[in-house]
Amino acid sequence: MEIYEFGKELISEAGDFIRGRMLEDFRVDAKLNPNDLVTDVDHETEAFIYERILEHWPEHRIIGEEGHGTDVEDTRGVLWIVDPIDGTLNFVHQLQNFAISIGVYIDGKPYAGFILDVMNDNLYHALAGKGAYKNDVRLGRMQDTHLAKSLIALNSNWVIKEGIGHTFTEVVKDARSTRSYGSAALDFVNTAQGIVSAALFFRLHPWDYAAGMIILAETGGVTTNLLGEEINILKKDSVLAGNPGIHEELKQYFTSDEKFIASHRKAHGEK
Ligand code: IPD
Ligand code: CA
Ligand code: CA
Repeated sequence: MEIYEFGKELISEAGDFIRGRMLEDFRVDAKLNPNDLVTDVDHETEAFIYERILEHWPEHRIIGEEGHGTDVEDTRGVLWIVDPIDGTLNFVHQLQNFAISIGVYIDGKPYAGFILDVMNDNLYHALAGKGAYKNDVRLGRMQDTHLAKSLIALNSNWVIKEGIGHTFTEVVKDARSTRSYGSAALDFVNTAQGIVSAALFFRLHPWDYAAGMIILAETGGVTTNLLGEEINILKKDSVLAGNPGIHEELKQYFTSDEKFIASHRKAHGEK
């Protein structure tokens, strides 16, 4: 079976698994801090996806947020980048507004992206060069917008953060308004559909954006880091995703601010 068809089936089955598993109790643990949560369902879903991929494609490699693929240091061959639950805080507090996110790269090049909005059972998928879809409906090309007339997705934590908050504050002042959804993967598909015009993050991991970048690109959107630099699919970085017009406009806020650039370099290093 083609990787793309297999990926669509796999993420749908993983969605069924989560919806079934939610009917039983699950354990919630803190990871790096009391607000950084992980549940049994995150671990079990990642194991489910991992095992299914390797059953079919033993030679493929997999990076998962919850521990699989720590030995992957290069992008040779077929690489699956998996976030079993993106939006774990929403999962724990709301039992909705979370996604499974799976990006596939072949020799470092985007191949396919899959994002399942689990509780709404909407599957977003894209094969590089062949367009992006919400279920069976192809998503249209994005329109350019200006910040002053746009909604943007942004977590308020970045606005109050020392060293970078002042730049995000300027962006918030100039935007029509902000939205905070709590799942980077859903922020990407909301951007791809024009529900918001852009999504900004100071720090994301590969599993947060691997699928979203591919889906967004297929609607004409642009993803770089906040300094307009290309993102390395194996590293954490800041992310600026949006339609080409607003992407260019937003990039100026960050690239013209020496204090922000210094904080960014300190957090993420030189490119
Ligand atoms: C998180 C979500 C959230 C983003 C965080 C991510 P997780 O992923 O995508 O929207 O702001 O940076 O870590 O931990 O729920 O998989
Ligand atoms: Ca995530
Ligand atoms: Ca996660």
